[in-house]
Amino acid sequence: MSEEQGGLDAGADAGGGAGSGGGGGSGGAIAAGGSGGGGVAGERKERHLSICVDSSRFRVETKPAGAGFDRVHIAHRALPELAMDDLDTGVNFLGSRLAMPLLVSCMTGGSSGGSRVNRELARAAADAGLAFGLGSFRSLLRDRERIGDFRVKSILGNLPLLANIGAVALRDAGAAAVFELAKSIEADALVVHLNPAQELFQGGGDRDFRGLRDSIARLVDEAKIAIIVKETGFGIAPDEVRSLWELGVAWVDLAGAGGTNWIAVEAYRLEAGPLREAAADFDDWGWPSALLLAGLSDCGVLGGSAGLRLIASGGLRNGVDLAKAVALGAGLGAMALPLVRALESGGRDGAAAFIERVAIGFRAAMLLSGSRNLEALRRGILGFDPEFLASAREIAALGGGGLGASGGAGGGATADTAALRGAGEGAGLHVADQGAGGLGAGEGADDAPQ
Ligand SMILES: Cc1cc2nc3c(=O)[nH]c(=O)nc-3n(C[C@H](O)[C@H](O)[C@H](O)COP(=O)(O)O)c2cc1C
Repeated sequence: MSEEQGGLDAGADAGGGAGSGGGGGSGGAIAAGGSGGGGVAGERKERHLSICVDSSRFRVETKPAGAGFDRVHIAHRALPELAMDDLDTGVNFLGSRLAMPLLVSCMTGGSSGGSRVNRELARAAADAGLAFGLGSFRSLLRDRERIGDFRVKSILGNLPLLANIGAVALRDAGAAAVFELAKSIEADALVVHLNPAQELFQGGGDRDFRGLRDSIARLVDEAKIAIIVKETGFGIAPDEVRSLWELGVAWVDLAGAGGTNWIAVEAYRLEAGPLREAAADFDDWGWPSALLLAGLSDCGVLGGSAGLRLIASGGLRNGVDLAKAVALGAGLGAMALPLVRALESGGRDGAAAFIERVAIGFRAAMLLSGSRNLEALRRGILGFDPEFLASAREIAALGGGGLGASGGAGGGATADTAALRGAGEGAGLHVADQGAGGLGAGEGADDAPQ
């Protein structure tokens, strides 16, 4: 693949570059005009940003509520017997204690606009006690001129900084070069992103995705820091999740469908023609995030601590979505698009206000479900509509590759409507049993693995 092609950080751009300039304090941090810096690749990277933040001109989210979190309900408690001060929303992640189970997901770097986004969002993440992910540093494999865009570790202090590279770039460059870069920006973990759908709808994008699993296996073998594998908005099937865990990947970030749709983003950059027309047919492609989580639970994949090595993302848009993701068994959630949009419209204060809104919603959902801590939230009883449940079971069966065959803890699900008890009890679908324990019963600190 040439420099003109690429993953989330590059690619042929028929739509023109976005500006940068502007300040971080009061909005317009990304698309306020001016040169993007970082040459052609930087302008391309800024074009991705400018498309994503301009919701009035570009529709890049699959469809409203496409992730399916609106079809999952946490049981409300009118007598929660908790005070807000009782709540512990903290979670252990990569050796740090986060204030809330949220990761500011990987987006950018390699351009002046991207540099500003990284610094402002890292600051907002640090102020809120969250983990922060950088966008792909693939461009640095050839030219380190813009390495400063990725140097935000000093802002984060002890909070985790995640470096990011595409699986194809990893395969082509090799583990050693990638580790060396991750080390030079003091990353605490390396995220490998999988984005075949985006590549296929990118003019000149990758068409050969062979050997990626082996590349990840070699990376894990040589790793001195945690390896995380993520999708970028179409999800990772249950059997693939398990195979990644079996390779020794520390965390899998599902990045399911229902949020940012990278086929749609790329379509705005394509010349008119068959490729752009075909892109329009993929509006509802991928595994919707909430369904995927529920399907994983149905498989029994989330039993015990395994569920805690799962990051839920793709279409999480508020604190209630985050609470539902945790209740479905995820160790933490991640958000990308809403944060960069909040930064664009309101600067760093806007990003901080968005995170605060998520925190308020998350804490309220915890109290209103009688959940003192995340462990208790995972034991909370969730309700689904029957259709959702049936779809989750289909996902479990389709993607299971044997995962669900033994039945696991979920094998006994028989009701036409059912409730799912979270991974804290060993996972699986259960006939609704609203009166049984679990709600608000959690004691002690959450103990997610690193
Ligand atoms: C502007 C932008 C740039 C992104 N760049 C990257 C990237 O470089 N690497 C990556 O792994 N994911 C990248 N993503 C994907 C996100 O990390 C995330 O997986 C996806 O957008 C789904 O989450 P969302 O619905 O909250 O946006 C990017 C997303 C956005 C919005």
